[in-house]
Amino acid sequence: MPLKKVLITRIIPAIAKTMLTDAGLEVVEWSGDGPMSQQELIVRAKQVNALLSLGADKLDKHFFSQCPHLDIIGQFAVGYDNIDVEEATKAGIPVSNTPDVLSEATADVAFGLMIAVSRKMFYNHKTIIRGEWKQFEPLKNLGFQLSGKTLGIFGMGRIGMVMAKRCKGAFDMDIIYHNRSRNPEAEKLFGAKYVSFEKLIRESDVLSVHSVLSDETRGLFNMDVFRQLKPTAIFINTSRGGVHNEADLIEALNQGLIWGAGLDVTNPEPMKPDNPLLEMPNVAVLPHIGSATVEARTGMARIAAENIISFYQSGEVPNCINRQVLEVRKS
Ligand code: GLV
Repeated sequence: MPLKKVLITRIIPAIAKTMLTDAGLEVVEWSGDGPMSQQELIVRAKQVNALLSLGADKLDKHFFSQCPHLDIIGQFAVGYDNIDVEEATKAGIPVSNTPDVLSEATADVAFGLMIAVSRKMFYNHKTIIRGEWKQFEPLKNLGFQLSGKTLGIFGMGRIGMVMAKRCKGAFDMDIIYHNRSRNPEAEKLFGAKYVSFEKLIRESDVLSVHSVLSDETRGLFNMDVFRQLKPTAIFINTSRGGVHNEADLIEALNQGLIWGAGLDVTNPEPMKPDNPLLEMPNVAVLPHIGSATVEARTGMARIAAENIISFYQSGEVPNCINRQVLEVRKS
């Protein structure tokens, strides 16, 4: 039987290629300095049996109409909003992701942004570069402390849990959360209180978004919501830029409807260098580095490979998003 071929759509930690090759699969890699064009991706995907994909690959309806032959997609990310899972399911293709391994790294970025915004760190750093640090300023550049404040978590999954743990341990913050379902573990471990979405946005001093991007969450944090936040509130988003409306966020900050914002994800990505958010004192923006630690990225590569290998060895996919496809394949 010819070797099954796996296309890895960017150069990722070498462990993935090693594992796939050791398991008897043939690996082809795209070594370009960025994602492939959609056209290139389709041409190359047609020549392989499986795809190890990244978030920048657009696996949409058109893609699946061209590549219904694929055996499995192993996404190198926890988020999979770049994949039309419904179309993959129709084509009978299992899709997997890489949860858990990046929770610590991503929560660290949310935690760091929260502190950076509360003390205007990015802005103050820039003032030194601009030669504006002249003397001690008793009344300028004041932030506020986080101890005892209320942290609101939108999306109490694995990453939200780590953020809650960090904030409880470091600042003894009161934790409230809103989620599709209650999270008894967060309630037990951190005394987190489940609240309605309306209560979450009204009572949070820091509102941190850890949800997926879906039809329900797309553009959810808009002017209507910002208006209901406390004028002292900090908005943090480390999930997907599509969850907030960026023009509304800029307007809300300009009008003083909220106090500050920390973003690791923007809308669109990359953010343009002349975006007004980058010059605002109470704002900190990072270029989507949530999972960018050696540990997280190595773990993501390992799990993405494991999902593909396991599929070929046993028909099982540990982190399958559309598990019903596996059931159908087995029956
Ligand atoms: C990164 O953004 C991920 O979804 O893993």
